[in-house]
Amino acid sequence: MSADREAPTVRARTNPAPAAAIIIPLLVGAAVAIVLGVYGKVHEPRFFSVNVAGFSSPTAVKAWLATLAAVLALGQLTSALAMYGKIPGFNPPWIGAVHVWTGRLAVLVSVPVAVHCLFALGFQDYQTRVLLHSLFGCFFYGAFVAKMLLLTRKGLPGWVIPVAGGLVLTGLVGIWLTSALWFFQNHGLTF
Ligand code: HEM
Repeated sequence: MSADREAPTVRARTNPAPAAAIIIPLLVGAAVAIVLGVYGKVHEPRFFSVNVAGFSSPTAVKAWLATLAAVLALGQLTSALAMYGKIPGFNPPWIGAVHVWTGRLAVLVSVPVAVHCLFALGFQDYQTRVLLHSLFGCFFYGAFVAKMLLLTRKGLPGWVIPVAGGLVLTGLVGIWLTSALWFFQNHGLTF
């Protein structure tokens, strides 16, 4: 291949991305969060519940699924730190796959819980904890969508993906603190 044909490829790889490459994913993420919140607010809560054999209540199922999602999110944090060389001597070749799969599973596990929250309970604000939980829930999916879109953009400044990942993690930790932790504090570590 001639030098003339290689040049655009090299330029594309090194050119910084335009501001729109960051702003558009952020706007789409914000729209997702707002749509979820508005839906949760205007939709009449259905108050249905589905229990799973072996669990004491549907709330316990949700609390444990939320805990699984939070543990997977910690796997995300650890694998991200390793990939960025922040854990001395620990950056095995499979760590990228661990990062991708803990992320996919965390979101997958969160979806049935969030569907129940949104459809059966809605966006509620009758306590500060519940308001924070509803806000974290909507924020989490907005941040997740924004991060997924940002990952497809080339030439972003190095801090963008870590910050986006940190915000997704913050959302999930916030969800857990305002829901599952509250459940375990009130009911004990019951299944
Ligand atoms: C998508 C936006 C979300 C909204 C609007 C929302 C809203 C709510 C509301 C109003 C409650 C009842 C709180 C109470 O009275 O104590 C609740 C409970 C709960 N939420 Fe969410 N939530 C959302 C997302 C999530 C996600 C993503 C998770 C987990 C990954 C989650 C996990 C839980 C758990 C474990 C409970 C306690 C069990 C229950 O009361 O049913 N929520 N949610």
